Amino acid sequence: MKKLLAVALAATLLVACSDSNDSASGIDATLLGILDAAGHTADPLASRTLPAITDPKAQLGMKLFYSKGLGGQADSACVSCHHPMLGGGDNLSLSIGVDAEAPDLLGPGRFHDAFRAAQDNNSPYDGGPTVPRNAPTTFNIGLWDQVLFHDGRVESLDKTPASNGAGAGGIRTPDSVYGVADPDSGDNLVAAQSRFPVTSAEEMRGFIFEAGNSNAAVRIGLEAKFNALAAWASEFTLAYGDASVSYGRIADAIGEYERSQVFVNTPWKAYVGGASNSISESAKRGAVLFFSSLQDGGANCVSCHAGNFFTDESFHVLAMPQIGRGKGNNNGVTATDDFGRFRETADLADKYRFRTPTLLNVEVTGPWGHAGGYTTLEAVVRHMLNPATALANYDFSQLNPSIQASHMQINTQFALAQLQTNRSNNVVGVHRDVSFSEADVEDLVSFLKTLTDPCVKDRLCLAPWIPGAADANPDGLRLNAVNNLGNFF
Ligand code: HEC
Ligand code: HEC
Repeated sequence: MKKLLAVALAATLLVACSDSNDSASGIDATLLGILDAAGHTADPLASRTLPAITDPKAQLGMKLFYSKGLGGQADSACVSCHHPMLGGGDNLSLSIGVDAEAPDLLGPGRFHDAFRAAQDNNSPYDGGPTVPRNAPTTFNIGLWDQVLFHDGRVESLDKTPASNGAGAGGIRTPDSVYGVADPDSGDNLVAAQSRFPVTSAEEMRGFIFEAGNSNAAVRIGLEAKFNALAAWASEFTLAYGDASVSYGRIADAIGEYERSQVFVNTPWKAYVGGASNSISESAKRGAVLFFSSLQDGGANCVSCHAGNFFTDESFHVLAMPQIGRGKGNNNGVTATDDFGRFRETADLADKYRFRTPTLLNVEVTGPWGHAGGYTTLEAVVRHMLNPATALANYDFSQLNPSIQASHMQINTQFALAQLQTNRSNNVVGVHRDVSFSEADVEDLVSFLKTLTDPCVKDRLCLAPWIPGAADANPDGLRLNAVNNLGNFF
């Protein structure tokens, strides 16, 4: 594929080698030139201010985030699916919230207890995962300006860049109709999002919530429960100056905790900042592919994974494997499909489109794809280069056997057909196949791994975001995460 590129690199390399005073080797000069032209600075934070984890609201938010008391059956917390030691996700293809066999066991080995679910709650689910999508990371969540969720159903209505969605147009959520602001959405996209997991039966609410089933009733029920506990009252006083618990405050505090999870100090940033030895030669070759257009022999990943946060915050058809029970969309053959962005906009052009994820810390946020269908970065990269070939060679053995995967090929072929249609219609920004070698895949993966902040792999560095023995446990319902070997995180 990259004859042109190879010639260009060889030429710059020759020049660089012949000049021992030149500190930037040929590939550095090529790459920095491309980045300069693209305006890429590797600094996603820029002038944005986000809360520190020591902020009293973030401290309260942490306690709430780890409390199963926000779950309708007191068996699921936010952290069940978003643990810092699991890359801000759950390390599962598809999440399991309520009715887990062992509520505090996170990551591989967390199973849905079909028997208990049927006995206790008449929940409609089998033993496979109950949540239809992969849990995205909460790391760097304060850097999104436009949309949260794979289908963007929490969305800033102000399309000019704003700080974390807090534009004058307000925020649309599932509590308001498409295009209309939700008056209760709070100050930013993250606070707006944290109003919803507690209302989802399979994530946190369960099937027996005493206060009734509407979103508002669930939140009022939780407010009453938290207001009745003196230990929570003192925590709210520390953060807000008085003891009154409203769901608005719960959502705000949780949002401040999540927004404090800023992990952007990557080897990539150091490299772009001038430390040319901070990434490998393979990663540099991968970066050249990532940032170069198809015409220049590149892979054009940057057309969607754009900017310093590596996302255009927009939606595209990539036909990633559709596994699990889906969102219940009916494609005429199965009722386990997920129509993606179309579910929100009802615009046929949006069928099978999903939001472009950020790639910061992507090394630790697997499995990958909106339904977690890939368990290695190599496989995801091959898919991004050529979706049809990747699907034809899809390796089912990478999935946990409990996952409902019998409809995968049928469902995903519909998305692939949509991709072909969009290509025929020359839809703006449509994905185009790239021819590649396995060495290219290796280089792209090396590049992706330079986007990992070392802190996210270090228990000691992550400690401020994980409550310890010294932190109050107001309702005694803190989730103390343990892995399938019985070790605490
Ligand atoms: C059972 C697992 C589970 C639980 C519990 C859970 N989440 Fe999630 N979370 C998910 C999944 C799955 C998604 C993606 C859903 C979608 O896009 O349709 C998600 C999406 C999110 C997002 C959007 C991320 C992005 O990049 O757009 C945020 C933020 C978030 N969750 C925070 C929370 C908070 C706060 C709580 C507790 C109030 C919580 N979650 C509870 C599984 C869970
Ligand atoms: C046409 C837009 C587009 C192009 C080009 C593109 N991507 Fe993506 N990428 C996406 C979208 C959209 C998703 C999420 C799809 C889904 O979940 O169904 C995604 C997902 C990913 C993921 C998984 C991230 C996660 O958190 O699950 C990785 C890794 C990735 N892309 C890397 C790349 C690389 C490397 C390239 C270039 C070879 C590339 N992408 C090219 C739009 C694109």
